[in-house]
This record gives sequence, C-alpha cells and structure tokens, in this order.
Amino acid sequence: MLKIGNIELKLPLVLAPMAGISDMPYRLINRSFGCELAFTEMISANALAYSNPNTPKKLISNSQDSPLGLQLLGGDPELLIKALDIASGHAFDIIDFNSACPVKKVASRGKGAGLLKDPLKFEKLLKVIITHTDLPVTVKIRSGWDDTSVNAVEMAQRAQDTGVSAVFIHGRTRAQRYSGNVDYNIIRKVKESLDIPLIASGDAFSPVLIKRMFDETGCDGVAVARGGLGNPWIFRETAGLLKNGEVPPGPDVHELVRVMKEHFLSNIAFSGGRIGIINFRKFFAWYTRGLPVRNLKVKAFLATTEEEMLNLIDELVTQQKNRSAEKHNISNAEHDISIGSI
Ligand SMILES: Cc1cc2nc3c(=O)[nH]c(=O)nc-3n(C[C@H](O)[C@H](O)[C@H](O)COP(=O)(O)O)c2cc1C
Repeated sequence: MLKIGNIELKLPLVLAPMAGISDMPYRLINRSFGCELAFTEMISANALAYSNPNTPKKLISNSQDSPLGLQLLGGDPELLIKALDIASGHAFDIIDFNSACPVKKVASRGKGAGLLKDPLKFEKLLKVIITHTDLPVTVKIRSGWDDTSVNAVEMAQRAQDTGVSAVFIHGRTRAQRYSGNVDYNIIRKVKESLDIPLIASGDAFSPVLIKRMFDETGCDGVAVARGGLGNPWIFRETAGLLKNGEVPPGPDVHELVRVMKEHFLSNIAFSGGRIGIINFRKFFAWYTRGLPVRNLKVKAFLATTEEEMLNLIDELVTQQKNRSAEKHNISNAEHDISIGSI
C-alpha cells in the first residue's frame, strides 16, 4: 500500500504528469485499468494567475477522475499563491510542485529543474505552497542538474524538512532530459535518506521494469509515464505481476479496439471534433505499436473526421482476421505438402 497524506492506494502506481498528454480522457482510460492516483500535466502558476485562456481546461476533472493531483510549475511566490487560490475552487486532492522540468525556457528562469541549482529558493517556494493549501503537498525532483551536481538526496531532505507528504524523483539529471538509462542507485540513496514515501520515475516501460524499480531502489511507488502511452493495460499487468508473480495476458484486438474507441470519443467530447481528432492521431500510433499496420497509422495521421478515425480503428479487427486467415492457409498448405510427401 502507498499512502500520500490521507490518500491510500492499494496499487503503488501513479499516473505521472505529462505535458500535452495527461488530460481527463487520458487519466480516465488509465484509471479504468487500475490506476488510482493521477496528476494533471504541469500547469504554469503564471498562466493560471494571468488567466491564460488555454489553462483552465487543464483544471477540468469529474467525480470519477479522483483522487487527482495538480502539478504546479512556478518560481514566484506571489504567483504560486494566486494559482493556489484559483485551484482551491477545483476538486484536487494533492498539490505537486514541479522541480524537474528540463525545458530551457523554464529551467533557465529558475523554475522546474532550474530549482535544483537553488536549494534555498526551492525550500522557500515549498514553504509558501505548504502554508497556502490544506492539501497534502508533494514535490517532483530529478537526480540533479548534471552528472557533476547530483544533489537529489540533499533536495529530498530539504523537501521533507519543509513538510511535504511525499517526494517524486525522476532518476535522470536535467542534462539527460529523457535519454539514457534511469539511475537506480541515486533513487535508492534518496529512499534510504527519507522517512516519507518516495515515488520513483524513469524507464517504467513494462511490468518487469516497474518491478525492477521496486526491487533495486526500495521505492514506495512508481510513476508511469511513457510506458502508459497507448498502453493503459500496464496498470492491470503490473498489478498481476506484483500480486501473483505473473504478467496476465495483454488485450486482444477486440479489447484494443473498444478502448481506442472509448478514448477517441472521450477526446472528441472533451476537446471538440477538430482538436480531438488531431490529439488522437498520436495515440493511434501508440496503441498500435508493434502491430504490422503501418498503412493504418499513415491514414490515421491524415484522418480529419470522426467517422474516418472510427473506421480505421475498426480496420484493426479486419486486418487481424486477414492475418489469422493467412496464417491458417499457410499452415494448411504446409500440412498438405507434408501429407503429399508421405
Ligand atoms: C511528453 C512528456 C511530457 C512530460 N511532462 C511532464 C510534466 O508536465 N510534469 C512532470 O513532472 N514530468 C513530465 N514528464 C516527465 C515524466 O513524468 C517522467 O518523469 C519521465 O518521462 C520519466 O519516466 P519514463 O522514463 O518512465 O517515461 C514528461 C515526459 C514526457 C515524455
């Protein structure tokens, strides 16, 4: 069990925040396969405070989309307070402070991973957030700025001392962005130095890799990020591996099609036809990763209507049937040849 503040999770997995991805439809699809706690994508305190028209949509959730954490990005105490005031009108259960975003225009302005270079400012901002919300506060850090300044143990301890309820760590430096392998060693060292829960992030691409993260680091929870793209089954499959020692079978083509349609239609309902279709194009490619359906992926990237996309999703069943029939014909032909040779 993983406990963050007053939130108790039976399965110690969390849906990680991902900019441009973690909207309500995405979160709900993952929840339907066992994800209990999800986060919004990072939301800029500046954008919230200055009422950027695109930002409020990122705050939308419903009663099934719970418990839900709001991830805030910011470097200015006044703007963070304003953002918290606005967020208090929405149903969030956790406030997570982003000290991990590697993007240059963020980090170079003393926000996101930029805070790893300024531990005092990091601590001050966390104190401001904790003082201005009644919700449990968590923080997301990276292992350090670069490999000459790996300071996650110090940063995590500072965060614990300010009173956060849990620490999230992406086990890569800011210099690595998203490349290279996750550093299990630094995550283990952070875990050993903390009394509060540590949720680890990095290379959580499969149930086996998620179990490896638990085994190698002793972390209390794992955050699923790129491993969940087009693969909400990762929650069900990891639950199976952690509980029974075996990964249950993945989805068959009918379940794949059902989930793709549900995700697509909720995208349309949430974002409207045009944006919903554009948004789903990349999901089509992720859902069909590893399947020999390049022709459909290309068509999905050009699809402009709801009907077109739904037809392409249905085509997955037809193509699967054709492949099975082909296999059947080949094995019959092989059988005939071997009979003929008797
Ligand atoms: C497209 C994309 C967007 C991301 N956006 C965020 C974000 O908004 N907030 C955040 O804390 N991390 C963000 N991340 C980082 C992930 O949450 C996660 O820590 C990282 O991808 C490492 O995990 P993985 O190797 O299992 O993907 C993002 C990652 C990707 C690939």
